[in-house]
Amino acid sequence: MKKRWWNDKIAYQIYPKSFCDSNGDGIGDLAGILSKLDYLKELGVDIIWLSPIYRSPFVDQGYDIADYYAIAEEFGTMEEFDTLLAETKKRGMYLIMDLVVNHCSDQHQWFQKALADPDGEYAQRFWFVKGKDGNPPSNYRSYFGGSAWEQVPGTEDRYYLHMFAKEQPDLNWENPVVREKIFSMVNWWLDKGLAGFRIDAIINIKKIPTFPSYAPDGPDGLASCVHMVHEAQGVGALLKELKEKTFDRCGAFTVGEVFDMKPQELVDFVGEDGYFSSMFDFSAHELTFGEHGWYDSKPISFRPWRDTIFASQKKMLGVGFLSNIIENHDEPRGASRYLPSYAQNEMGKKLLATTYLLLRGIPFLYQGQEIGMTNCRRSDISEYDDISTRDQYRWALEAGCTKEQALQCCYENSRDNSRTPMQWSDAPNAGFTTGKPWLAVNPNYREINVAEQESRPDSVLNYYRKLIALRKNDAFRETFTYGALAPILEEEPFIFAYIRENQESGQRILVIGNYGDAPRTLSIGGMRELLLSNCGREEVKGGTLTLAPCESAVILLWA
Ligand code: GLC
Ligand code: CA
Repeated sequence: MKKRWWNDKIAYQIYPKSFCDSNGDGIGDLAGILSKLDYLKELGVDIIWLSPIYRSPFVDQGYDIADYYAIAEEFGTMEEFDTLLAETKKRGMYLIMDLVVNHCSDQHQWFQKALADPDGEYAQRFWFVKGKDGNPPSNYRSYFGGSAWEQVPGTEDRYYLHMFAKEQPDLNWENPVVREKIFSMVNWWLDKGLAGFRIDAIINIKKIPTFPSYAPDGPDGLASCVHMVHEAQGVGALLKELKEKTFDRCGAFTVGEVFDMKPQELVDFVGEDGYFSSMFDFSAHELTFGEHGWYDSKPISFRPWRDTIFASQKKMLGVGFLSNIIENHDEPRGASRYLPSYAQNEMGKKLLATTYLLLRGIPFLYQGQEIGMTNCRRSDISEYDDISTRDQYRWALEAGCTKEQALQCCYENSRDNSRTPMQWSDAPNAGFTTGKPWLAVNPNYREINVAEQESRPDSVLNYYRKLIALRKNDAFRETFTYGALAPILEEEPFIFAYIRENQESGQRILVIGNYGDAPRTLSIGGMRELLLSNCGREEVKGGTLTLAPCESAVILLWA
């Protein structure tokens, strides 16, 4: 496989609204991010992904863009953005932005013009479709609940499609003008010196223009719009054109948010010449998906979780690089989701860090993960901001859950779990703001915060620093980047173990962790040197290794 500049990089996702507030208005901003660049550099981060910072009414926290060429006033100015970009580069880091082009905001001028003239040119940039017998064109449920069709005001039988919120009208990618305008916007940002994009909800851009209805799959009599996504053919042609007319011009790094890809299209998406450089591995997250919603989501159990990750790793060997995550702004905190209760402590968090960060692929960290931030319990739905959480809560109640049960499902699944402000210190509001934060901080900031962990050598933060430094150490970098991955001890019910092997040099490194609550003794051949331990172990010797509960180790093996 051809080597690319991004192959050996570590990425970090910033959710700007919750990262660092520089002016006390309770909202994180670009100046706040700028003030933390050295912190990120010291952590070992190479690529910074900013969740959307464009002008937006923030109905879906910036994933509803009103102007693709403007910075949200809440976050700062274009000048501040340019400074941030320059300062990022000065530190040898790369900046990527969120590309949200399946839909825009209903406040975008195209949509405003479309509403003003539903028969005009701008309406053709969206999906304005005639209803059927007084009903919407089809029975689709949007991803955020309710019909995916909204009547166009002032018309009798015209509806527009929104696969997400009604304030997020879907763009019509079949219209060449739309594509051309999107490509030139992407190029405008790339020409500024951006290193690439994280690409939002991209599979949804391909529609079936006849919009067939499907058998209802919920008590609301609607059918998820994802059925159409499954049936739609031909997204590849659109993605290929996007890539050729934009990313290819400058070797940009792109990572797709791709759910519901047809499995046979893997190579087309992320192979050598794929539409994207990489895409997220959501397979572990998908294990928790309930049939109906968060209220019937499934808990993680160790073995299927581990095996799912291994399956993803195996299918990518010789194909390309997935991007590995344990959490993001749409998911609960990884430490709360993937660790059993007895492992929800610092040792467990380091164990989880070790087994995921040394997988083959691009590791993405999400802000706060490096200090082990956790889910946040709320006592009333009014304390949640997220549009999807409010929908899922309602849905749970409709399905017969009590208020307590519905809140419990939000505690376990809400997107706001990861959107609480970054915990910088034990100062009021976690040092995130001097004002009132837009979303209440997690009260555990007094124990879990950056300042405390900076000063303590055995903290989760300092462990992440060591782990990242190990992955990037010149002595092992090739192996961790390009080496194959072979799972071992798969019959062990609580052991997560794999060998990274560099076929050229013969270097072999064992990554091993015990997710059980009892010690486990294993026979392991060829141990040469302990490279990293999450619990102060100093050496490995002989042919056996006894791992304490939640212990992990990275061990150089004899070639
Ligand atoms: C993606 C984003 C999510 C957003 C949705 C609609 O899934 O990650 O936050 O709500 O797209 O843009
Ligand atoms: Ca601010």
